[in-house]
Amino acid sequence: MDDGEIFEFRLERSREDLFGMLRRLYADHPDYEVFLSELDTLLRERWAERADDLKSLDLRRDLEPDWFQRPDMAGYVFYIDRFAGNLKGVPPKLDYLADLGITYVHFMPCLKPRPGDNDGGYSVADYRAIDPRYGTMADLEAVTATLRSRGMSVCIDLVLNHTAREHEWAEKARAGDPRYRNYYLVFDDDVLPKRYEETLVEVFPENAPGNFTYEPGFGWVWTTFNPHQWDLDWANPWVFLEMADVMLSLANKGVDILRFDAVAFMWKRMGTRCQSEPEVHWILRALRAASRIAAPALIHLEEAIVSPDELIPYLGVGEHEGKVGNLAYHNSLMVQYWSALASRDTRLMAHVLHNRFPRVFANATYATYIRCHDDIGWAVTDEDAAAVGLNGFAHRAFLSDFYDGSFPGSFSRGALFQVNPATGDKRISGTFASLAGLQKALDDGDEEGLERAIDRILLGHALIASFGGIPLIYMGDEIALTNDETYLDDPDHAHDSRWIHRPRMDWDLARLAQGAGPQRAGAASDAGGSRAQAARAPGASVSASKKVYMGVRDILKRRAAVSEFHAKNPTIIAETGNTQIFAFVREAPTGAIVCIYNFTERWADMAGDWAAANGASAFHDELSDRPVVLHDGKIALPPYARLWLR
Ligand code: GLC
Repeated sequence: MDDGEIFEFRLERSREDLFGMLRRLYADHPDYEVFLSELDTLLRERWAERADDLKSLDLRRDLEPDWFQRPDMAGYVFYIDRFAGNLKGVPPKLDYLADLGITYVHFMPCLKPRPGDNDGGYSVADYRAIDPRYGTMADLEAVTATLRSRGMSVCIDLVLNHTAREHEWAEKARAGDPRYRNYYLVFDDDVLPKRYEETLVEVFPENAPGNFTYEPGFGWVWTTFNPHQWDLDWANPWVFLEMADVMLSLANKGVDILRFDAVAFMWKRMGTRCQSEPEVHWILRALRAASRIAAPALIHLEEAIVSPDELIPYLGVGEHEGKVGNLAYHNSLMVQYWSALASRDTRLMAHVLHNRFPRVFANATYATYIRCHDDIGWAVTDEDAAAVGLNGFAHRAFLSDFYDGSFPGSFSRGALFQVNPATGDKRISGTFASLAGLQKALDDGDEEGLERAIDRILLGHALIASFGGIPLIYMGDEIALTNDETYLDDPDHAHDSRWIHRPRMDWDLARLAQGAGPQRAGAASDAGGSRAQAARAPGASVSASKKVYMGVRDILKRRAAVSEFHAKNPTIIAETGNTQIFAFVREAPTGAIVCIYNFTERWADMAGDWAAANGASAFHDELSDRPVVLHDGKIALPPYARLWLR
């Protein structure tokens, strides 16, 4: 069978998903027919230029569509410069990642950004070039090939919602080219912007209030995020065509996963928040279909940091089941982890995760995480809070106070982000280790506190490794890097506290944490260490990093060995009857694994009967690989215990 025939089969497979959606979106547009024919040409051209090894990967993934749902998938997320200097620096670091158990790497934004402040690379000036600080497109292609040869997948960001003000399309629009003006949402006066603003929310109320930016001599431009990030008009089919082209071109460079940034904002409708409108899902389904036709090895990760009800459709439900994203961030799991830790109470967590989320998805799963490059917003609704007797506003305020460290007795050291006096919202920045108590314990020379912090960190890692989905480890969290205050010295970063948790990799510490000889972690100190880390008692910090590293490595290794953690197996939240404990069951045809977590620094009891009734039969802890012994019919859970009971 030749290539062309395979293409036709795949086109047939996804025809309705693609053209059905495009009809809904664009049938009334005057260019519709021309657009369809150009899209057809594009798909054929990108397929024709796709390399043979990628085409065999396409076939392999067609035959093994669950490749990304398997329990040996584990991700690692980093800024190329902060981790490895540049793209060429990545391959020498792969032994380190392989040792940790990583099979998926996410390069934080690496396409060419605008000069100056670029929102951490999310203000893209050229989708067809790599940020020159990192290397070239040829370097990217070489790195993806190296990773592929080692069985690792590569994820990169594709910002769909906006381009930089300096992107060629925006330049042409400003120069008066009507074709490109129509790529953006530009208004001659502020009448409509003001009407839209009545129902819009502000993403960066402190740094970039409002959703429109006046561009002298041009008009009012829709800028949901920063003034230099111009929202694209996805109601224009030519925008779809451009982005489909970018998407498939990146896939042809060997990228396995595209992280679609800020997707919720892609469709605007007067009188709404302009988030997660139905058309967003039509667009994403059409893009998905285009990938399935011309680059089927590629999968899509949707970045939608929205409420639970709004999130689920990004993983495909109802008429879109199995047809939208393959992955989406489980923002609620992350928020609930922090909420339960601070309140030492798992009721809200159990309520939200039980009532708001399905147990399993078709052809899709979560990206689970505890920290990422962004802040934490307390996405807890008033309704969910009330269901467990909490006041939503008060609980959100408590979480902000707890994690910025001002709440009496807090173990956390965080920084505020985007305080919004109008809504009372206060988001939080900080590294996993600093928010979990490690920084404070190190500063106080508190050994007991240090152990508790390490336990909280490993609890988080065990949680995201077992919940269902691909666990994503954010660079440095595996060696417990603490907050990096040096961002305040950089004029492009000082206004944005998210840089506090975007440190440089500390390779000296990594090497020590790994307990390896001098060369294993890659050349020492090439990316520079975190200043804060070096200032403190080095012995304590190294030993903490080592415990965390070894713990995370062990968690990933054990996870890979437990077939029940395959994402196709439902996650069923269990009622534990003890507010200290959060538990769920991963129900597989081969039997159940009951995952039990003590979210407090106090011992907790769990009835053996309870575990048996929930499917535990062998009373073997798959995480420590040891039997669990009952005392008086009870399982005794130490502070922050984590058990994967078979
Ligand atoms: C996403 C990114 C965030 C960025 C925003 C705008 O939410 O994660 O870092 O600021 O999109 O591109």
